[in-house]
Amino acid sequence: MKKILITGGAGFIGSHVVRRFVKNYPDKHIYNLDALTYAGNLENIKDIENEPNYTFIKADITDAEHINSLFEEHRFEGVLHLAAESHVDRSIKDPLAFVKTNVMGTMNLLNAFISLWKDNFTDRRFYHISTDEVYGTLGAEGLFTETTPYNPNSPYSASKAASDHFVRAYGETYGLPYVLTNCSNNYGPYHFPEKLIPLFINNIINNKPLPVYGDGKYTRDWLFVEDHAVAIDLVFHKGKNHETYNIGGFNEWQNIDLVKLLCSIMDKKLGREAGTSEKLITYVKDRPGHDLRYAIDAAKINKELGWKPSVTFEQGLERTIDWFLSNQEWLNSVTTGEYQKYYNNQYDVTK
Ligand code: NAD
Ligand code: TYD
Repeated sequence: MKKILITGGAGFIGSHVVRRFVKNYPDKHIYNLDALTYAGNLENIKDIENEPNYTFIKADITDAEHINSLFEEHRFEGVLHLAAESHVDRSIKDPLAFVKTNVMGTMNLLNAFISLWKDNFTDRRFYHISTDEVYGTLGAEGLFTETTPYNPNSPYSASKAASDHFVRAYGETYGLPYVLTNCSNNYGPYHFPEKLIPLFINNIINNKPLPVYGDGKYTRDWLFVEDHAVAIDLVFHKGKNHETYNIGGFNEWQNIDLVKLLCSIMDKKLGREAGTSEKLITYVKDRPGHDLRYAIDAAKINKELGWKPSVTFEQGLERTIDWFLSNQEWLNSVTTGEYQKYYNNQYDVTK
């Protein structure tokens, strides 16, 4: 495969995947297709924009005609599909936007890929990147495996689940050579500050309240984004056709414990007295349909492909915080305009 399309490469995870592929595979041409929504930012991949094996394409995956013409023009042999609407809270306010991008957008890519390569799928691959949230919620015990039934609870996870089902169905019906992964919560550099960790880092820097939903006892598994990019690289190159792999950090945290850890590291980094940032914690109205617990059994990818996370949570969190502290211009540039409107509306800020 010489021509590889990565969708959503100007977003959080996509930018790490694009950077890794451009640097590690100089013999392949990497096309980064992104609509540059509020979550997409070319600054995220500025360091590789002039590499000879890299091309940026501004396009919307919901525009079937444009997507078809791009596939005909460039004849992408491999696709890594990450473009999506990705924030649960936004999906509660505007579910249809999630259906359009996550379901219809994925359909357009699938259709374009199928109609281009249907006569010869040899050495072609469509990789769909998904989330553990499609499995719904766990109680206090248990882990999500690749055979856990889908049971999505938010419009975001329902739209991702629908797209996963179409990918599988295209595999069965048309022989689509696909691989699919379901990953837990990522964190790291370039994370958009609407998600828990970067939002709270930004608010701590600015001495703003830390809005913890409900009782803060919700549990997530966290994975450093660069370790996710390594897993994606492995699955793309070594994963078996028509297989799903769960990816996780072996790293469960209750939100409130995570927030307290974050506060204590931030106090040290900012030279503030211990306990200063914790005072910003504010319990707020819960998210509707809030999933209690996500936890991943990543034994399959570990056993079959030899993948495991390379950094501990403490190391990854420290690297993340250091990155945000030394990239405050980036943080400032993404938290103006539309972000302020979103923030005030989401967190009922009246002044
Ligand atoms: P993100 O919101 O940071 O980035 C999404 C990117 O997609 C942005 O660059 C945006 O401009 C682009 N995009 C959105 N709509 C588009 C459209 N219609 N056409 C073209 N481009 C469009 O998302 P992320 O956190 O980097 O997630 C990437 C993928 O990984 C998503 O598919 C998400 O479901 C999945 N995922 C995310 C996590 C996580 O913790 N963030 C965990 C597991 C899986
Ligand atoms: P988030 O980063 O939005 O990821 P996801 O909902 O996809 O897991 O949220 C992580 C957890 O943090 C989730 O349990 C919701 C909670 N949360 C808050 O308590 N306050 C916030 O302001 C946000 C954005 C999330």
